[in-house]
Amino acid sequence: MAKKKIVFECQACGFQSPRWMGKCTSCNEWETMVELTSEQIKFLKETSSSSSASSVPSKAIPITQIQEDNITRFTSGSTELDLVLGGGIVPGSLTLIGGSPGVGKSTLLLKIAGNLARDNKKVLYVSGEESAGQIKLRANRLEANHDNLYLLPEINLSTVLSEITKHNYELIVIDSIQTLYSEETPSAPGSVTQVRTITFELMRIAKSLQISIFIIGHITKDGSIAGPRVLEHMVDTVLYFEGDVNSDLRLLRGFKNRFGATNEVGIFEMNKEGLNDAKSMAGKFFDKEKLQSGSALTIIMEGSRPIIIEVQALVSESYGHAKRSSTGFDNNRLGMLLALLEKKLDLPLGTYDVFINIAGGIKVNDPSADLAIIAAILSSYRDRELSSDSIFLGEVSLTGEIREVSGLSHRLKEMETQGFSKAIIPNTPLEKTSIKCFVANEVSKVVEWM
Ligand SMILES: Nc1ncnc2c1ncn2[C@@H]1O[C@H](COP(=O)(O)OP(=O)(O)O)[C@@H](O)[C@H]1O
Ligand SMILES: [Mg+2]
Repeated sequence: MAKKKIVFECQACGFQSPRWMGKCTSCNEWETMVELTSEQIKFLKETSSSSSASSVPSKAIPITQIQEDNITRFTSGSTELDLVLGGGIVPGSLTLIGGSPGVGKSTLLLKIAGNLARDNKKVLYVSGEESAGQIKLRANRLEANHDNLYLLPEINLSTVLSEITKHNYELIVIDSIQTLYSEETPSAPGSVTQVRTITFELMRIAKSLQISIFIIGHITKDGSIAGPRVLEHMVDTVLYFEGDVNSDLRLLRGFKNRFGATNEVGIFEMNKEGLNDAKSMAGKFFDKEKLQSGSALTIIMEGSRPIIIEVQALVSESYGHAKRSSTGFDNNRLGMLLALLEKKLDLPLGTYDVFINIAGGIKVNDPSADLAIIAAILSSYRDRELSSDSIFLGEVSLTGEIREVSGLSHRLKEMETQGFSKAIIPNTPLEKTSIKCFVANEVSKVVEWM
């Protein structure tokens, strides 16, 4: 007789293990491992093996004889969202939108739902979080009222599915995946098993009826959507909201896209009419007048767009174990930059606490901000203000060498339009520019130009 297979699954992150553990080794949460029932294991097997849409036994065909899919798209009515999606919404696609509470997920998607309803598309907004009256209140504010927009306050998946199949909707918004529940799975709403079952059902319906579905997902405290692996690999597109809830700007970043590139970022502004496309990013992430010691400016590329941002550093004498902490910048990278400063410039940073913050709640992934981080640290350490006309650009390598950045001419052009005059960069630009460029190709050189 075959041995009964036992599988334990973490309800916080979806990690599976053949034995029970008090603490999940993947996400470090305590007491989240639950034994799966034999039905759940069977369901898992089915969902993982039926990922390809057709159930007909298929045969391999030479790639030269295959006709490519013709991807059509329709606009969401928001240029920023269209940009992140790679040119618009693809019919039959499943998109996950994640973000922390209050960041604007419901606001954005209700607005989009209204836009499409006005475009003669039948739209269904399913909410397990708010009552129809509450959503109506928001719709009034966003001017999203239209006869083609239907609301369904519901948490039971089978009711939602039967509503979807009864009418010919073209777009469906699920707000949120963590509030829906399927009776077929015994676990609580929001658990990994539930989220997986529901996403699978939604995927099936999206593909078979060619309906585009947007799924809203809440983010757990470590910044990932509950059951991240489960959700992310099932959907076509994953977008995450970034931004400080205290500021008006919100960034919508693509993490996965089966129909386009993921390097574009949508930028929105929150105001009382909702979350609208930001008209211009100029000057949104820095204030020239308010620069103090510890602040440095740089330009990062968000997709195809250059954005000037302010990076801030606070270097203060440490009492005890030296702290390193950063918001919006990679902490390990900060550690590397500090080690370099100690080694190359002989700074005794081991006895100082160092804090880094990127203004405006933006998260920096562009390595060209390294030089500005170094400049900000030095500025705070010496308590000397940097010129508010200067921009620092350059990727710092482990050897202390400062590397070229991509799209330099594009970035310099943005500086010109915004009235900056001085750039500290790793190499002289090939194209003519009115910006005075100072070359710093080594960490020790930066000091000369500060
Ligand atoms: N009546 C209102 N007037 C202006 N802004 C509002 C109003 N109600 C909510 N907001 C803004 O919208 C945000 C909530 O957005 P919401 O879309 O509900 O977030 P999420 O769905 O991501 O949790 C709030 O943080 C608030 O700033
Ligand atoms: Mg919401």
